[in-house]
Amino acid sequence: MSLEIRTAGPGERLDALRPIWHYFGSPAGPDEERAAGMPLAEGRLHVATDDGAIVAGAGAFEFQLTVPGGPVPTAGVTVVGVLPTHRRRGIVRELMSVQLKDAHARGEPIAALWASEGGFYGRFGYGLASICADMEIPKAYTAFNRVVDWPGTTRLVTADEALELFPQVYDRVAATTPGMLSRSEEWWQKRRLADSEWRRAGGGELAFAVLEQAGTPEAYALYRLNFSYADGVPTGTTVVVEAMGATPAATAAVWRYILDIDWMAKIEAELLPIDHPLHLLLLEQNRMKFRVGDGLWIRPVDVGAALAARAYAADGELVLEVSDAFCPWNDGRYALDGSRTTAGPDLRLPVEALGCVYLGGFTFSDLLRAGRVEEVRDGAVARADALFRTDRKPWCPEIF
Ligand SMILES: CC(C)(COP(=O)(O)OP(=O)(O)OC[C@H]1O[C@@H](n2cnc3c(N)ncnc32)[C@H](O)[C@@H]1OP(=O)(O)O)[C@@H](O)C(=O)NCCC(=O)NCCS
Repeated sequence: MSLEIRTAGPGERLDALRPIWHYFGSPAGPDEERAAGMPLAEGRLHVATDDGAIVAGAGAFEFQLTVPGGPVPTAGVTVVGVLPTHRRRGIVRELMSVQLKDAHARGEPIAALWASEGGFYGRFGYGLASICADMEIPKAYTAFNRVVDWPGTTRLVTADEALELFPQVYDRVAATTPGMLSRSEEWWQKRRLADSEWRRAGGGELAFAVLEQAGTPEAYALYRLNFSYADGVPTGTTVVVEAMGATPAATAAVWRYILDIDWMAKIEAELLPIDHPLHLLLLEQNRMKFRVGDGLWIRPVDVGAALAARAYAADGELVLEVSDAFCPWNDGRYALDGSRTTAGPDLRLPVEALGCVYLGGFTFSDLLRAGRVEEVRDGAVARADALFRTDRKPWCPEIF
C-alpha cells in the first residue's frame, strides 16, 4: 500500500465522489447530475490514493455561515468517505488534517458539517452546535390558537420564478439566523430547486409557493404532495422540503397554507429548528410529533478569528483557555476579541466544546453539566452564558 493525500484534479471529480457514494448502495441518480449537485470549487476536493487509485475523498464548500453578528467564511465539509477496503488505517484522520490546514491557510475561521457518523468528528475538533427536528402532524390537528389572515397574495410559481423570488426571502432570514448558509444561484438551481425523478424518490413533483405583500416576496414553501387513497378516503402526505417567512406574520401564513392543503392526511417536515414557531402557534401542540436529532457541527479552525467574528450579547471580558491537539496552532488563551492573552483563564475547554456554544445552540451551563468545560473562576460560566446568549436557536435548513 502506498498512500498519498492530495487535491483532486479537474478530471477526477467523479472518482473522488465515488468512495462516499459507495455507501449509498444503489446509485441515487446519474453520476454526472449528482456530481453537478456538489458545486465544489477547484482545489476543495481532497483524495487519498493507494498505488494511484482513489480510495477516499473529502470536500469543502465555500460558504458564508451566519453566526451571531453576521456572516463568516466557512469550510462546509462534505462527501467524506473512505472505501471499506481501506477503512481504519488512519485515512480520514489524514484527510481531516489536510483539509483543516487548507481551510486555515484560506482564512476560513470555521468549518461546519453534518455528520452521518457522529462518533469520530469530535476527535477532529468538531462539536455538535445545533439540534434540529423532524415533524409530523395529522392534518385534523393543525388548527392554530389564533386566526392567521394573510393580507397579501399566495401563488404557485415555476422553478424559474422561484429562482428569482425565493432567495429574496431566504437571504433575509439567513442574515439573522445563526446556522444558515449563503446560497449561490448555482446552489439554488442544482440543489434546492432541482426536481429530477431520482430526487422525487417516488413522491410528488416539487411545488413552489410564494406569499407576497405589496409585490415583495415575504415567505415561500417548497413541498411535495404524496397522494394516496385508502378505504374511500385520501390518505396522502404533504412533505415540506423547506418553508420560511421573513417576518412572524409571513411565517405563520406560509405554515397555515401548508397545513391547509386538501386531500392530505398528514404533514411532514424535516430539519426544523427546535424553537420553531409551530410549538406556539398550534392549538394542540401535543399532536405534533417532533423527533429531535443532531444538526450542524462546528469546528473553530482559527479560534482567535472565530471569536473576533462573533458578536456578544453583553459587555464584559472573558478569558478562554482552549486546547486543540488536532490543530495545535489554536492552543492558548484568548480574549473575546480574539487576541491572545497571558491573563489567567476564566474557563478551560477543548476546541470542540467551543464549537458547541459558538452559534448559541448550547450554553456554557450545558457544557458544565456535561463535564465539558472547567470553570476556573467562580461565576465564569454564568458570565460566559450572558455574553454568548442568542435570541434564537441555530437553524441550518439543509444537509450539505
Ligand atoms: C467513517 C469513515 C470516514 C472513517 O474513515 P477511516 O479512514 O476508517 O478512519 P480512520 O482510520 O482515519 O480513523 C480515525 C479515528 O476515528 C475512529 N473512527 C473511525 N470511524 C469511526 C466511526 N464510524 N465511529 C467512531 N469512531 C470512528 C478510528 O477508530 C480512529 O480513532 P483514533 O484516532 O483513536 O485512532 C469511513 O469508515 C467511511 O467512509 N464510512 C462511511 C461513510 C461515512 O461515515 N462518512 C463520514 C460521515 S459523514
